[in-house]
Amino acid sequence: SLKQTGTIRWKSPSNIALVKYWGKRDNQIPANPSLSFTLDACVTDTTVTYRKLKGETTPPTPDADGFRFDLLFGGESRHDFRPKIATFFKRIEKFLPFLREYHLRIETSNSFPHSSGIASSASGMSALALCLMSMEREFVSEMDDNFFKKKASFLARLGSGSACRSIEGPLVQWGSHSDIDGSSDFYGIPYPYKIHENFTNFQDTILLVDEGQKQVSSSVGHDLMHGHPFADQRFEHAYSHLSELRSVLAEGNLRQFIKITESEALTLHAMMMTSHPYFMLMKPNTLEIIDRIWEFRKASATNVCFTLDAGANVHVLYPEEETQTVYGFIKDELLQYCENGKHIRDRTGFGARKI
Ligand code: PMV
Repeated sequence: SLKQTGTIRWKSPSNIALVKYWGKRDNQIPANPSLSFTLDACVTDTTVTYRKLKGETTPPTPDADGFRFDLLFGGESRHDFRPKIATFFKRIEKFLPFLREYHLRIETSNSFPHSSGIASSASGMSALALCLMSMEREFVSEMDDNFFKKKASFLARLGSGSACRSIEGPLVQWGSHSDIDGSSDFYGIPYPYKIHENFTNFQDTILLVDEGQKQVSSSVGHDLMHGHPFADQRFEHAYSHLSELRSVLAEGNLRQFIKITESEALTLHAMMMTSHPYFMLMKPNTLEIIDRIWEFRKASATNVCFTLDAGANVHVLYPEEETQTVYGFIKDELLQYCENGKHIRDRTGFGARKI
């Protein structure tokens, strides 16, 4: 059984969606299936030190929901993040009944700059879910790795939907789809079909166009898909993109991959611009970059393309063997549109690691 005290540490990556998750039902059930590249360099490093409370004469005061934890972000106490963690704990306690019996000291830091517009919820929530699963594993005498990863993804989903796609790599699918064996609304799975070598070493250079806080959170964005005039068409659109991708990924069809990936990014932002209330997260420099990428792709016959998250930053995607040409182009022509030239060179990765 679980010891009185102990320390667990996981590093978990962020991910970038190719087919976007935008819209959800209760209990973090996605309105449509999604697919993402797991990243490598953008990670959250989380250490959980647990201590059993029983028998303590003066146990630490619980927060309003009855959980006992300290939260440190890059070495500093972060009270602003506590409600998010408490909400997460409330959602998962029925799946991890030991939660209230322990005091948790959660120390977390990101490899990427704070408030860079890089979503830290996917890497942060998956890292925390994995630490809690490592605790859980000590109660259950035989838990196979497969179950461990599935349940970690299941729990991570309850922290932040996209976090369920950060446990493994390099390509993870989440959300029930009739053409995808083993797909589930409850957890992400490693993409179960052939992936051509064209897609196994993709580069993702993230251009930091706008480092400010997002004006609209993704949870508000998801909610605005309820009653959205194009919601049904959008969910269908994502669904058929996933069907189409099966042969595209198997055959290494880069041209078709680009079409689907860029269409997904623009459709995500089109949903934002057509919801009530409408909003826009792209900035003028986002559009400049997209335009330059299109021009360069035509002129160079490379396979560079872009995708976007719920923000102004641009993820520039390209196969590894085009790095010299494409990164040269990024340096010469695109960094001028970033805040102080800031960017992150990332690539597809293989998922979370226990340290
Ligand atoms: O995981 P959430 O609730 O922050 O939603 C993420 C939504 C997008 O990043 C815009 C798309 C996606 O599939 O990751």
